[in-house]
Amino acid sequence: MIRVTINGVAHEAMSRERLIDIINRIGTKVSQVCYHPQLGPIQTCDTCMVETNGKLVRACATNASAGMEIFTKSEKAVAAQRDAFNRILSNHVLYCTVCDNNNGNCTIHNTEKLLGIEHQAIPYHAKPYEEDHTNPFYRYDPQQCILCGRCVEACQNVQVNETLSINWEDPHPRVQWDGGSTIGESSCVSCGHCISVCPCNALMEKSMLGHAGFFTALSKPALSGMIDVVKGVEPDTGYGAILQLSEAESRMREERVRRTKTVCTYCGVGCSFNIWTKDRHILKVEPFEGPTNGISTCIKGKFGWDYVNSADRLTKPLIREGGKFREATWDEALDLVARKFAEIKAKSGPDSLAFVSSSKCTNEESYLMQKLARAVIGTNNMDNCSRYCQAPATQGLFRTVGYGGDSGSIRDIENAGLVLIIGSNTAEAHPVLATRVKRAHKLRGQKLIVSDLREHEMAKRADLFLRPTPGTDIVWLSAVSKYLLDNRMADTAFLQGWVNGLDEYKKSLAPFTMEFASRVCGIPVDILEKVAHMIAEASGVCILWAMGITQHSMGSDSSTAISNLLLVSGNYMKTGTGAYPLRGHNNVQGASDHGAMPNFLTGYQSVDDPEVRSRFEAAWSVQLPSTKGLDNHEMIEAIYEGKLKAMYLFGEEMSLVDSNANFVGEGLSKLDFFVVQDIFFSATCHFADVVLPASPSLEKEGTFTSTERRVQRLYQVFEPLGDSQPDWRIIQEIANRLGAKWKYQHPSEIYREIASLTPLFAGVTYERLEGFKSLQWPVAADGTDQPLLYTKEFAFPDGKARLFPLELTDPTDQPNAEFDLHLNNGRLLEHFHEGNMTYRSEGIRKKTPDTFVEVSPELAEERGIQSGTWVVLTSRYGQVRVRALVTDRVQGKQLYMPMNSAESPGIPGNGLVQIQAK
Ligand code: SF4
Ligand code: SF4
Ligand code: SF4
Ligand code: FES
Repeated sequence: MIRVTINGVAHEAMSRERLIDIINRIGTKVSQVCYHPQLGPIQTCDTCMVETNGKLVRACATNASAGMEIFTKSEKAVAAQRDAFNRILSNHVLYCTVCDNNNGNCTIHNTEKLLGIEHQAIPYHAKPYEEDHTNPFYRYDPQQCILCGRCVEACQNVQVNETLSINWEDPHPRVQWDGGSTIGESSCVSCGHCISVCPCNALMEKSMLGHAGFFTALSKPALSGMIDVVKGVEPDTGYGAILQLSEAESRMREERVRRTKTVCTYCGVGCSFNIWTKDRHILKVEPFEGPTNGISTCIKGKFGWDYVNSADRLTKPLIREGGKFREATWDEALDLVARKFAEIKAKSGPDSLAFVSSSKCTNEESYLMQKLARAVIGTNNMDNCSRYCQAPATQGLFRTVGYGGDSGSIRDIENAGLVLIIGSNTAEAHPVLATRVKRAHKLRGQKLIVSDLREHEMAKRADLFLRPTPGTDIVWLSAVSKYLLDNRMADTAFLQGWVNGLDEYKKSLAPFTMEFASRVCGIPVDILEKVAHMIAEASGVCILWAMGITQHSMGSDSSTAISNLLLVSGNYMKTGTGAYPLRGHNNVQGASDHGAMPNFLTGYQSVDDPEVRSRFEAAWSVQLPSTKGLDNHEMIEAIYEGKLKAMYLFGEEMSLVDSNANFVGEGLSKLDFFVVQDIFFSATCHFADVVLPASPSLEKEGTFTSTERRVQRLYQVFEPLGDSQPDWRIIQEIANRLGAKWKYQHPSEIYREIASLTPLFAGVTYERLEGFKSLQWPVAADGTDQPLLYTKEFAFPDGKARLFPLELTDPTDQPNAEFDLHLNNGRLLEHFHEGNMTYRSEGIRKKTPDTFVEVSPELAEERGIQSGTWVVLTSRYGQVRVRALVTDRVQGKQLYMPMNSAESPGIPGNGLVQIQAK
């Protein structure tokens, strides 16, 4: 710490702290148009000039030193600030009262007020450009652009899409997309960073235009007329009077525009933001304070909310009668569900019923669903979709380090010397997390290795890109571990201090020589050795993986091999290290954490542990089943075997996204009674007997847990649409009709109960999660959380990690004469999963109307396929007709197809296929 004086008053500061940060921290008002704390100094506006040692300096770009005397209001400083702002006004017309950005937070408006400038000192110069409306979500108005460069900085160095620049050499500089393209035709990915940081109305969400203000819906000629009037009176009245009027209008807006904090409902990154609404109209999503994302979003979180107000939302319960659905009252539908559940339980026993929780709904809702299954029905037949992605990764971590969660935060990934991404198309599946890797790689020299079948964006950016033979990751990962151990490159001090099982593990590695791995994986030995050396030399390694690992038949073992490698190289227990299985859905981590699993109650407390059970039994006043229930796959098998008669599923599209979808669909149609609860009439609803209309995240309160184990609160934005209800209320209604006497009035009461029964969440309370506050589990009773999971010890009784020996098993499903191609599924940036929500966003649908299959140029030539050709993909399990896209992102006989397809259900899934042009 050092001491500086500001305007003659002494203050403490950190050595080399930016002057602007000190000034802002102590609450002194200094203009600062281009500075944004999350972007750093851009130095284009000069409005932050202050005087120190008789010299003018930019407060945003000057670091504090001991004894520094800073004057923010000296004559020289104020004159410089006003000169700078006058130059800005030569690029911007002040028509605040009729501007959609007049919401109390416009930097230009507020700076004008702060500096008290009364007249236009430098005439405004119109620029020879039109507004650009070619992007479905936002528009750029060059006439209002003050050329501050914030958007460019955000696009270049936060989102790292590198689309934006300013043509400073032009007599009329403006922001350019790809050096001069329209926005619609540019490489812009509609992440919205640029709009979120723009200090004025030059970049604006289209959903704001004409909606935010009382006088902003005027026609263009009327608006121009009003602007001319303002310009006309300014020389006489000065800006002061004009600003007063606009501020009165801005205050009126506060009455009708609500800003509500929510958490993104798409992927597992866990971005949070304020959502601005006027009645049921979404004006915009405003990211700023989110602990994970700050100013960042991707297209889905920023613009993908149309589905909430979609005309085809389910708003009434439906009951199947005579092969058709008819609308019903809530009482009728809930009575029927309770009666059928009770009858089936009485006749065939509690284990003839099964429950599937949603990875999109809240923690509290997953908790109530498993409580309904266990405490009310008496079965452990309870699962969620993490079975297909998260569970194998969790298993690998349970075996080796103890907890089934990411070992650190996204900030720890940023701090790594080397990031290794395996089987994850991170830039599309976890976009905001990917921005942090791209930024560290671009600006801080972080190294990046990518292993994937497909050369996606992260692969193109990587220092080293590996393309192993499908299903062989376990081999090269183990070979690298062996190489490190054999060549004295392992972290022996770490192994000695913190890891058990080294000898046995070493023995198990005998077959995994580099030569063997090279043969099996199709990667040259020198490349594998390079991987080993990069790992050994890096100051911290984080490994990120996703469905490219977990959805293979050896997903658990491959995840274990990843964790083994991290242990061998000493990459746990400090920032910049660790294992990061990237969770797909917004709350897939939370659903498992909160007991929606066949073998665990909340916080991974085992159903077969008598102590655990007796604690829950005492709290719930019931007897609990003690044997593991059926998982999702086993549920379908059990239907075919005639053991499972009834199911209750909410917020999951099981018939479409489970592997072997046709088999699953046929199984569901065999159930005696099937209840589906959703916000839309999903494909799975076609198999239901009762469909219950639920509310999406914006219509309820609760918590989500992101991939970094971060628990965050969401607040209610809208009332539930029509007769729809939050899932937790519906589950409670059913439970109570079956004799439970639940009395939850608010999700916070549910969480109080969870925390009281779950050591992992002992200190989680709604008060500690207020606003943008968050907690990363485990959370001690006093509220202390653990952003970095292993600091003092690993989660085993002796505090030590365990190397887990692995055996090599042959990958299943090798190509053959009939099915000679390998199809991979994955996500697309614009769509989420099957697309039930994102296809209802008009702009997203316009940008990405349907799915496609990627075909390599060599295969395309061999089979006579071109981009746009319709092809039929056939596997042992089904068929799909889709258009081809010929691209060198895929190679040889690898195909890739995004998993979202509203029109093409029956996707054959990951695995072997044949292709025919049709
Ligand atoms: S929306 Fe994102 S990608 Fe597009 S220009 Fe703005 S920051 Fe760049
Ligand atoms: S569009 Fe906005 S953020 Fe970008 S340079 Fe212009 S005023 Fe600044
Ligand atoms: S989809 Fe994921 S990355 Fe995109 S805004 Fe939502 S949480 Fe963030
Ligand atoms: S805020 Fe310092 S130069 Fe713009």
